[in-house]
Amino acid sequence: TPAQLLQVPPMGWNAWNTYGCGATQSLIESVADSLVANGMRDAGYRYVNVDDCWMTRDANGNLTGNSHYPDMKALGDYLHARGLGFGIYESPGAKTCAGYAGSAGHEVNDAGTFASWGVDYLKYDYCESASSLSAQTADFARMRTALQATGRPIVFSINPNSGSNTGAGVTRDWGDVSDQVRSTEDIGDQWWGQSWPNGIANIITENATLAWRAGPGSFNDADMLEVGNGGLSTTEEQTHFAMWAMMASPLIASANPGSINATSLALLKNPRLIAIDQDTLGLQARVVGGSRLVNSSGSLVLAKPLANGDVALALYNGSDSAQTLSASLAAVGLPGTGTWTDQYTGNVVQTGAALTTQVPAHGTAVYRVTTPGAPASWYTTFVNPTAGARSY
Ligand code: GLA
Repeated sequence: TPAQLLQVPPMGWNAWNTYGCGATQSLIESVADSLVANGMRDAGYRYVNVDDCWMTRDANGNLTGNSHYPDMKALGDYLHARGLGFGIYESPGAKTCAGYAGSAGHEVNDAGTFASWGVDYLKYDYCESASSLSAQTADFARMRTALQATGRPIVFSINPNSGSNTGAGVTRDWGDVSDQVRSTEDIGDQWWGQSWPNGIANIITENATLAWRAGPGSFNDADMLEVGNGGLSTTEEQTHFAMWAMMASPLIASANPGSINATSLALLKNPRLIAIDQDTLGLQARVVGGSRLVNSSGSLVLAKPLANGDVALALYNGSDSAQTLSASLAAVGLPGTGTWTDQYTGNVVQTGAALTTQVPAHGTAVYRVTTPGAPASWYTTFVNPTAGARSY
């Protein structure tokens, strides 16, 4: 059994979506300053993650930063001095996805190097062709064991999807070898995209069915947030953020925090949606209704039990026109009526046992419902792995 490092999904920032291989140590440091200045750190965005292209392997076989990253230890110190965590990227093969030095055969040494730099989070990205799922599992487990042997708690974030098996992220429960697992291939800054990169709606379609394998210790990673990157409408950004929170996905922002627009920044800092994601029960929302999940014309009703006895309910409209959707407390096994609070605005919208509302195209309505007198354990049958999952 893996050590349970994460009770709730991690939050942070990653350089890849906005900067790709163009990020540098000084850029990451200025991003860290912006996360402090714009309030994102204090809203919970703690890990600052360097992605691919930072590394080279020296003549002694040790990883070092390349010319873009003159001093990795200093970078870690810079982040820690600001109350942030240090995230880094590697791959299990000979090369990373962008062709830089991978960790194959160097796992123990590299894990020690990371620990000596004060690394708090490792994204371990499968890029080579896996001969089999069990070989791939062993590749992840080798680094997992090496990280644990350092004695430093380092979040282990894996992406098993690779060229030879693009669907590996959904074929098994990777919780035995990771703290978070990427469900799908890469996200793109777009609503819909069936081939690489994925759209927001495509990822929701896949990831919403995977609640059975998510909980404290291992979370489904729906990939980094595109909020603030410009490719989504305000309504689509709301859906993106609300659904990632409902799915208890890691919330790893990627827009430049120094220049992000005010509307997107306010969404990323929405304390109600963050609280849904970070709820200490650590459960992913179950699918309790909706018409069809398999393409963009579908809808979904999701329910996420929360630690204080509340339930978060989301009405997701994946279609290109407005739909009237409904949610009820009865559908999740809650007796009586409750107070429904809109999680975008914080306004109470009604007291009742059910709610029907018109949801705009690509939109998601999301509520926290407080039901006085609900038995504390109301959700335990509801979240039973065989009851909630894949039953839409
Ligand atoms: C893969 C990952 C991305 C990013 C790149 C870097 O495509 O899925 O998130 O890390 O590699 O090369």
